[in-house]
Amino acid sequence: MPRHVAIIMDGNGRWAKRRMMPRAVGHKRGVEAVREVTRAVRDMGLGALTLYAFSSENWKRPADEVADLMGLLRNFIRSDIEEFVANNVRLRIIGDYQVLAPDIVDLIDDALERTARNTGTQLAIALNYGSQQEIARAAAKAAAAGDVTPESIEAHLDTHGMPPLDLLVRTSGEERLSNFLLWQAAYAELWFTDVLWPDFTPAHLKEAIDAFGRRERRYGGR
Ligand code: IPE
Ligand code: IPE
Ligand code: MG
Repeated sequence: MPRHVAIIMDGNGRWAKRRMMPRAVGHKRGVEAVREVTRAVRDMGLGALTLYAFSSENWKRPADEVADLMGLLRNFIRSDIEEFVANNVRLRIIGDYQVLAPDIVDLIDDALERTARNTGTQLAIALNYGSQQEIARAAAKAAAAGDVTPESIEAHLDTHGMPPLDLLVRTSGEERLSNFLLWQAAYAELWFTDVLWPDFTPAHLKEAIDAFGRRERRYGGR
């Protein structure tokens, strides 16, 4: 079993386009997939799941799409926080979420506080996240402390305290990292699928985890 799985949830727009529906519908169905996959991960007892929800580059999208995504985020936290509390899920955020709308920041801070002592699955949501920015921030902190090493940089990453990333999944047929977990993916196993994110189910996740189980990891050794 992987200790930590991360997913680049891609393909909401294409899912909607194929059905001649607005992109917002694809994003809405994407949230349903998040819910199902998160429940499955929790029930499997996986240590950590990190989901790429909004990148630091996604601000380039039209304002109405950004607003749709923020609205879905707001609703998601409001509606699912009780389920996290009840199921021992510890919520985390990676990325600079402080620049989001003040009411979303408050919702997030409340959810972080309410789940901070939970000991089950860690669910990290990447919001306004860019891996290069994260590494630069961490390196600056390490430098300020006069100690720049891989270990000291790692200690300042947003993912600090999470288990090492074992498996990185991307949906929708794209095979790139798009500024996601560049440092953490150093020795992660990568798994790509053509399935569009709204169609992604716990069965697909099991497929990825089974494939992970068949990989031979060497970490440069032999
Ligand atoms: C992923 O789906 C969701 C986010 C990036 C927020 P996209 O919106 O990127 O969907 P495609 O890639 O256009 O199909
Ligand atoms: C990556 O998907 C970001 C998220 C899934 C949140 P994008 O759709 O933004 O990535 P690119 O632009 O295809 O690389
Ligand atoms: Mg995309």
